[in-house]
Amino acid sequence: MQDMEQRCGFDWGNPDYVTYLDISRRQIERHYQEFIPLFLDFIGMQRKSKILDAGCGLGFIGRLLERYFPDGTIYGVDIEKELIVRARKLNKELGSRVKLEVQDVNHLRFPKNSFDLVICQSLLINLPNPKDALKQMIQVTRPGGRVVVVEPFDEQIHYYPQFSKEINNLLLKHHKAVEKAIRKNSAASMSVTRELPQMFLDLGLTNVKALGTMSTDLTCDEDDPDALRKAQLYHDRSTSMNKDFEQLALQGGLKPHHLEKIKDAEKRWLKRITAHPEILKTSAEIHCAMILVLRGEKPKE
Ligand SMILES: C[S@@+](CC[C@H](N)C(=O)[O-])C[C@H]1O[C@@H](n2cnc3c(N)ncnc32)[C@H](O)[C@@H]1O
Repeated sequence: MQDMEQRCGFDWGNPDYVTYLDISRRQIERHYQEFIPLFLDFIGMQRKSKILDAGCGLGFIGRLLERYFPDGTIYGVDIEKELIVRARKLNKELGSRVKLEVQDVNHLRFPKNSFDLVICQSLLINLPNPKDALKQMIQVTRPGGRVVVVEPFDEQIHYYPQFSKEINNLLLKHHKAVEKAIRKNSAASMSVTRELPQMFLDLGLTNVKALGTMSTDLTCDEDDPDALRKAQLYHDRSTSMNKDFEQLALQGGLKPHHLEKIKDAEKRWLKRITAHPEILKTSAEIHCAMILVLRGEKPKE
């Protein structure tokens, strides 16, 4: 685990992060029904495509593609064993059409030119050397095949109507501080998203095209059975998603007395929603990110 944190700056197997990933990906699926056909058309998957999802996490992309292209073969790789074990459980009905393995995207163990399509989501922003990973992804793509990346931009919107303006401002500082510390520890940078089109061209991909979307994450979803758990995860900042969250915020420059103010406000809110979860149905807490979907073609040799 120590080694993992050194490589990624983040403990991807932390149980709270795994829960967050699971809940947030299921929510994306529920809310983005109208975007999915556009996305599938854009990535250009064919009926029998062989696909690799690099940094697959819990295998969300693989399950999505499998549903629309049951004749395809989908591979998912992730560096975190815990996530692969969980993803296999989530996939147990899919049989051998989706194959999941622990692999480092920087050292992919597939032969060259193996896949019709290689895709990743929210991976490159987390890597210290995204260009090296992209090179590996291109290497295992067949000539004429496609590389698709789905990565968020770093400017995100967070708004918590249940808190005062002062607490909202402190929360913004908190997000920035945590982000800064995580990126510093891992030497990764979310601003890489802006550089991806040029990187695609520099690495020889052709027919480079982009699609944009938003990822909006609400805790007021009436049908969401996980709304309470999700709201608790978002707010219990001293323990959620990363055991060292509090420390990261301080490392990233958040003042200790500001952290205390946030924690007080969050404790009160947590107590209220735990006693009255129905409040969540009318509290439109917003987490919103712009997402770049970029595709390129590996030239035919
Ligand atoms: C933000 S999560 C995204 C997971 C998944 N793509 C999704 O969108 O649901 C980032 C993922 O990248 C994985 N990861 C980080 N560094 C990696 C590496 N060097 N090789 C493979 N996977 C890696 C993490 O373990 C984690 O599952």
